[in-house]
Amino acid sequence: MPPVCTETSPEISPKPPHHVGIIMDGNGRWAKAQGKGRIEGHKKGAEIARDIVGWAQNQGIKQLSLYAFSTENWNRPKLEVRGLMSLLAILLPKSLPSMMQQNVRFRVLGDISPLPRGAKKAVEQACQQTISNDGIDLILCLNYGGQQEILAAVKAIVQQTINATSPQQALAALDLASLRNAMWCRDIAPVDLLIRTGGETRLSNFHLWDAAYAELYFTDVLWPNFSALHLQHAIDDYQARERRYGLTSEQLQAIDQKHD
Ligand code: IPE
Ligand code: IPE
Ligand code: MG
Repeated sequence: MPPVCTETSPEISPKPPHHVGIIMDGNGRWAKAQGKGRIEGHKKGAEIARDIVGWAQNQGIKQLSLYAFSTENWNRPKLEVRGLMSLLAILLPKSLPSMMQQNVRFRVLGDISPLPRGAKKAVEQACQQTISNDGIDLILCLNYGGQQEILAAVKAIVQQTINATSPQQALAALDLASLRNAMWCRDIAPVDLLIRTGGETRLSNFHLWDAAYAELYFTDVLWPNFSALHLQHAIDDYQARERRYGLTSEQLQAIDQKHD
């Protein structure tokens, strides 16, 4: 039977998710409702992004990826983009002591080369300083797009194939695992639970490959109002599901009984 996904492990009542991905949406609407400017919403959102790391650790989550800036977000008003980049440059260095204390390894998914110098430096510094931490991976998705991630992998593979002694053999050897190996997410586990706040029910170019079998959880709560309790609800919901990966419920029960 051909596998449908690079890593599949059907589960009834799954264990706490290993990798949780969050589309942190709703900062602008939160600010508007408060009569504040959009940047104020992003500031409050950044506080929640800082706090959620501890909440996630308490839930046993090992990898947390937060969608902070999409490839499409460059098209927002210049002032907002500049504000977001400044927030990153200012707040990330301030978060470093608590990340060290919480044993957080800070990582990035996305192409940070076009980021303004201050933001880029803050990101590189946070990655470097926390590289040996192993409590939880905090993966900031910055200038990230799932389509761009797939395109970059395809380009790398085409290049390798052109350079191979036998391009035919290289092409024949290409499979799901080797394609994933060429992607930015290569050493990050597939997303188990994908949460989107702010009421929209779309992926907006987040983890297109690695959310292939993610459980999706949408909530109307605006990101600046998200709390430890909301995270708990999302995880409870996740743990009440059956992750079937194409199997039937009966097959899953049989696998479960074998493991007992
Ligand atoms: C998400 O909040 C943060 C970023 C995209 C950077 P939004 O800014 O999209 O908030 P809404 O959707 O306008 O409320
Ligand atoms: C997705 O939110 C990107 C981030 C949360 C960083 P958007 O607000 O940009 O998504 P759309 O435009 O509603 O799809
Ligand atoms: Mg939005």
